[in-house]
Amino acid sequence: MNFTNFSFKEVYMFTLPDLPYAYNSLEPYIDEATMRIHHDKHHAAYIKNLNEALANQDKLQMLTVEELLQNLSRVPETIRTKVRNHGGGHANHTLFWQVMAPPEPNAAAPAGDLIKAINVTFGSLLTFQEKFTSITMGRFGSGWAWLVSVSGKLEIVDTPNQDTPLLEHKTPILGLDVWEHAYYLKYQNLRADYIKQWWNVINWREVEKRFAQSLVK
Ligand SMILES: [Fe+2]
Repeated sequence: MNFTNFSFKEVYMFTLPDLPYAYNSLEPYIDEATMRIHHDKHHAAYIKNLNEALANQDKLQMLTVEELLQNLSRVPETIRTKVRNHGGGHANHTLFWQVMAPPEPNAAAPAGDLIKAINVTFGSLLTFQEKFTSITMGRFGSGWAWLVSVSGKLEIVDTPNQDTPLLEHKTPILGLDVWEHAYYLKYQNLRADYIKQWWNVINWREVEKRFAQSLVK
């Protein structure tokens, strides 16, 4: 299954979305072997575990993964941590694949309302990237860094494990996976190098689209 729209209404049983590009097309910044393991093994495992947690939950099976995460208090305590971790893993990785794209020099910058909002909030794209990198480097252990929209206002946040900004009703429009499984094969312990190179494969058109959607929610 391939879907490219954040508003796609997928419910149980969840399935692994295809990558929207070839495994090797983020080279040389993110290597093919990492993409294969990350997508085919790690993301697939989150989905398998999420489906197992929801196997006997008729009512919860009607909710999208975003709805599950935004309503964790409705999830029985016995499976709440599983849904948080593996539902988060599914939502986060689905976004992650989509906000990246093969490097295209002519498309390698945000435009339109998004760059205006970045300039208003952070002063410039470069300052935004520096702050984002700093927060990402400060994330101890496994987790994510995010650019989120809260009714159109941009913020940079980070989350531990597979927690998503959706838990706090913030809309993620760009996310960076800093679990070691995302970069260790190519960059080993050099998280800073991974982050620096990652900026080359941002799908700014997708980030702009998500920002626009966050304004109408
Ligand atoms: Fe990951």
